[in-house]
Amino acid sequence: MLTLQAKSLAETTRHARERLIVALDVSSSAAAQKIVFEVGDCACIFKIGTQLFTAEGPQLVRDLVASGRKVFLDLKLHDIPNTVASAVAEVAKLKVSMLTVHASGGGKMLASAVAAAGQAPAPPTILAVTVLTSMEHSELPRIGVRGTIVDQTLRLATLAITNGCDGIVASAHEVRELRSELGKDFAIVTPGIRPPGSEKGDQARVVTPAEAISAGATHIVVGRPITGARDPAAAAREILQQIDF
Ligand code: C5P
Repeated sequence: MLTLQAKSLAETTRHARERLIVALDVSSSAAAQKIVFEVGDCACIFKIGTQLFTAEGPQLVRDLVASGRKVFLDLKLHDIPNTVASAVAEVAKLKVSMLTVHASGGGKMLASAVAAAGQAPAPPTILAVTVLTSMEHSELPRIGVRGTIVDQTLRLATLAITNGCDGIVASAHEVRELRSELGKDFAIVTPGIRPPGSEKGDQARVVTPAEAISAGATHIVVGRPITGARDPAAAAREILQQIDF
């Protein structure tokens, strides 16, 4: 059996560290800062979603950015183009590194988001959410969508890329298809990641860190396998070693 050679954190490439995003799925700044502290130098990008942002607001984002961390603000914006553009402009003021919008908001909305980000001194990476991985095939016709989940993911990813988005959020199961149809020049961020041997939790279709990156994902989002570990830094370090190729 192939065994991974243990590397120290100092030996782990910057490249691997830039690919790991730790999801801060908690409801207070204190809990989030505890995780950030425990993870230490083993990760540099932290995802704040709607739960934590609604609870604590922009000050936590400012604090994390001021402490040298990169923030992925996962607000999944979806509204009329003018409203989304205004929200993106406000988000950019927080100096976040990555931000999500829903691709299903349409081309005008996506282009407005991209244009608003482009006005910022340090534009955040605009990622478009394609099909939520919680969506089942049987639900698609009920929301007026024809075809398979892969068809819809490709359709929305194409819309996002042609309107200037920097990347998309998609299931790791669709990454190979996305790469072969749409090429290499955009980011693919994949949640639903589980290191070999860890608990699945509520994630049904999981993929290992190495599988996701091998398939062509540029970033993996990992929550509970790191935040729920007895030693979050060690858990993150192990994942870094698995994607350091
Ligand atoms: O704890 P776990 O690793 O399952 O967390 C995954 C993170 O990715 C959570 O923040 C979750 O909201 C997010 N996510 C997901 N599936 C999606 C989109 C986002 O699990 N389709």
